[in-house]
This record gives sequence, structure tokens and C-alpha cells, in this order.
Amino acid sequence: MEKIVPKLQESGPIFCVETAAGPSSVVVFGASGDLAHRKLYPSLYALFSSGLMSQSFYLLGCGRTEMTDESFRAGIEKNLPAETAGKVSSKAAFLERCFYAAGDYQSNDLYETLQRRLTDLDSRFNIEGVRLFYLAVPPNVVKPIVERLAETKLTCPASTGRFQQIRLVLEKPFGTDTASGAELERVLHRCFHESQIYRLDHYLGKDTVQNILVFRFANSLFEPIWNRNYIDHVQITIAESIGVEHRGGYYDQTGALRDMFQNHMLQILSLVAMEPPSSLSAEAVRDEKAKVLRSIAPLSAEPSNPSVVRAQYGPGEIDGKAVCGYREEKGIRPDSMTETFVAARIMIENWRWNGVPFYLRTGKRLPQKLTEIVVYFRSVPHLLFRQSVSITPNPVNILRFQIQPQEGIFLQFQAKRPGSKLDLATLEMAVDYQGIFGFQMPEAYQHLLLDCLVGDQTLFTRQDSIFLAWQLLEPVLDRWESQEEDIFIYKSGTSTILPAEQLIQKTGHSWNHL
Ligand code: BG6
Repeated sequence: MEKIVPKLQESGPIFCVETAAGPSSVVVFGASGDLAHRKLYPSLYALFSSGLMSQSFYLLGCGRTEMTDESFRAGIEKNLPAETAGKVSSKAAFLERCFYAAGDYQSNDLYETLQRRLTDLDSRFNIEGVRLFYLAVPPNVVKPIVERLAETKLTCPASTGRFQQIRLVLEKPFGTDTASGAELERVLHRCFHESQIYRLDHYLGKDTVQNILVFRFANSLFEPIWNRNYIDHVQITIAESIGVEHRGGYYDQTGALRDMFQNHMLQILSLVAMEPPSSLSAEAVRDEKAKVLRSIAPLSAEPSNPSVVRAQYGPGEIDGKAVCGYREEKGIRPDSMTETFVAARIMIENWRWNGVPFYLRTGKRLPQKLTEIVVYFRSVPHLLFRQSVSITPNPVNILRFQIQPQEGIFLQFQAKRPGSKLDLATLEMAVDYQGIFGFQMPEAYQHLLLDCLVGDQTLFTRQDSIFLAWQLLEPVLDRWESQEEDIFIYKSGTSTILPAEQLIQKTGHSWNHL
């Protein structure tokens, strides 16, 4: 297929103008963990070194492992990128603002220590500003931490002027079903106001995901055709080539439906399908996203006519290397029925989308890492070019948002090949972000952490969406947990997974090539 490469049509700055955060402190629970070291500290450093964070800033790590401030700093430094010219603040300046407190999350001693150190550090760095409590911890310690923070008044009661500046940041899982999700929310809301809670979904921090909104609502060309009259169906894929890696213990209790579908996939779907919000305020955007979830037809995993199917990876090959099956991975039960792949056909029962299937699939040990949203438009009502030598039987326009590995937007359309005959070819307009803007996209956490610091909740999941997502998935989880049928095993590295093929073929479509 021929490619047409567009250019940036203006001479403005490449980076958008960001709002810098004011004086702030970040308290990270789970400070010696993988997430903190791989994502949080490098992202905070990126913000600090580029001047997007005030010099009145400090980071207090908190974990069970005993450590001095110095060894904590040495651990952080290992994951920071090499210093480059043109940075506003240096690595040394960042590291000297990092501190550590060890303790048991369940014991009051830790919170008394925190109280003392925070008071001391606030006065040393002259901070009476925003404080983030970031919970990078396993789900079983979220509740005790939140409760202790409240008991020791670290959360700041609503009667005090500072309460809006104290924020709680946490990541999935937000429960494992409707009941446990609701229980977690009860605990969170006993201790924090919804406006203080930032439920982070790192997919919403990815630039191209946010671009869906801009693409839809800033281009008069596309919004009028973004509906059942012009769109035939939509496919959303999050494919990974990795397996469960070192997370067997967590993953085996979780599975793809809870790990990827309940959150990332449904959030992306909401952005693709939502109505235009009345403004870009956090509430207006989140209201529209929640409405999409409310409009989804009930899902079913009944084998006779499923709208959701599952599978699990077996042994196979990835990038020419043999890999083991899921049940042979460390931490996985040898007879595990946990799904590593899910595909679904979702129908949104509203005025805009009635009759348009949204096919969603996500899985591990697929041939490549690829996250994309593909919109298939309807074909023309009558094709004049049947005699054209090269044309496919029913050519359609296809719009593809690629989120990973390389961000871009691609539009396929038909055009005439040069020459005396009316011979058609499919061309693609390819907007390769990195090619056009000439830099690596910022890490999603960088964007989201800045939003937490400046108090913008737009990209964070609201309580109602979490609840709606669990409610939607409940019948599927119940059916699967009754474990009446064996799970389908696919070969690692394959893109053709029988239950997913059957699901999509039933409604006359086929998956975009993986
Ligand atoms: C996480 C899941 O939320 O997202 C992981 O728990 C998954 O299982 C990861 O591997 C994928 O994220 P990304 O940004 O690498 O696509």
C-alpha cells in the first residue's frame, strides 16, 4: 500500500504549554517497589528537571524495607536517565529532595514517624502546598494505609483549608468485583472526598489516547460521520508479546478481564464512543464516559452465544524463541483456568451507536506489542469501479489510531493509479507522531503525575465508572468462575485464537491483522 506522509502545518512550539505545579510534596507508599522505581521516580525527575515542578518540592518514600535516605537515593538514581544539557534542574538537586521512612503499613508507629518527618520537611522546603499520597502497594494494604492516614489526621479533615490540597493517588485493582469494588470505595470515601481521589489508569496518560478526543472534537470533517450511519464497526486491540513475567502470583488471581479489560479497554472504548462533553472540565468529560458504560448491552459468556470469550496461552514461540505455556510459569497453578486473552463484542445501545459492533481484544503472548483502535467505515452504497483490476471486492475507509509501539494516525482510502485506465489502489495517509514532532512521547506517568499535582482529575477514573465496569463484567466473571468448560489454549505467538475468530465471524467481520 502506498503511503502519503503529511507535515506539521504550523510553526508553533512542538511541546504544548504545560501548567507547572506549585510547591508540593509526594509521599510514595511502596517506595522500594518496581512501579515506583521504573515509572514514578523517573517521571517525577523528568517534571522536576524540566521546570514543571517547583523547587519547593520533596519526595518521601515509605516502605517495609529498612533503608537510609542515602541508599534510597542510590536506588532511585539507577533508573534516572543520563543528564542532558538544557535541563532546568539537575539530578543532584532532585536526589537531595528524596527521603525515606521505613515501617509496617499497619502500625501506628509508621504514621507517627511520617507525621514528624513531614512537618520537618515542610518547614525545611517551605511547603504549605499540595501533598500527594501515592499508593504503589499491593491491594491488600490499601485499606489499612488509607484508614491509618485518616486516623492520624494526615488526610486533613474537610473542615481545614488545606484539605483540597491533600490528594490520594491509587492504581487498579479497584476491587475484584462489584462487591469488593464498592467496599473499597466505602473505605476511600470515609477518609477522602471524591475530589481528592485520583484513580490512575496509565493508558489515559498516553498521548494518542488523549488524541482521540482532539481528533473527534476538533475536526469538523470527522465528527459528523462518527456514528452508525457511517461507521460499520470498531476494533480495539491491546496485544502484548510478553507473558506474565514475575507477576504470576498476582496475575493468576486476576486474569485479563480484570487486569486489562475492566479498566484500560473500557476507558478507551468510552473515549471512542462518548458524546461531546459540554466542556473539558473533569466532570463533564467523566459524565459522558460514564454514560457510555451505562449504555452497553449486557455481556454474556454463555457458550451457546457468547459476547465475551477467553483463552490462555500455551507453549509456543515469540520472536523466534521458544516460550513456556502459562501453566508452566512461576507462581501459576498447574491447572489454572485464568484467562490471558479476552475478546468481546460490545453493543452500545444508544442513538449514535445502535447496531455498530465494537470488538475488543487483549492478551498476552500474542505475536507483537500493539495497541490500536481501528474504525471501519461503511462502504459506498454503489461501487462504480467493479472493472478495476486491483480493487478489493468492497473497499472501505479505515481509520487507525496506533497507540503503541509507535504513536500515529493512519487513514486508508481508495485512489486512482496513474495511467490511462481506471485502476484503483488503496492509499494510506500516515501521521507518524515521532516522525512529525521529532521526539519520543513523554511517559504516561509524567503527564498523569503533573495532573495530580495541578489538581486536574479529567484523566482519572471516577467512582461511578469503576462501579459500572464491574457491574457489566459481573455475569462474565460469575460464568467463568463456575468453571464448567475448559479454557481454550492458544499457542504463544499466534494471532489466530479460535474463540475470538468465531466471535467476530458470527457477525460477518474479521480481526485486523496482528
Ligand atoms: C498493566 C497490566 O495495567 O498494563 C499489565 O497490569 C500490562 O499486565 C500493562 O502488561 C501494559 O501496559 P503498557 O503500557 O505496557 O501497554
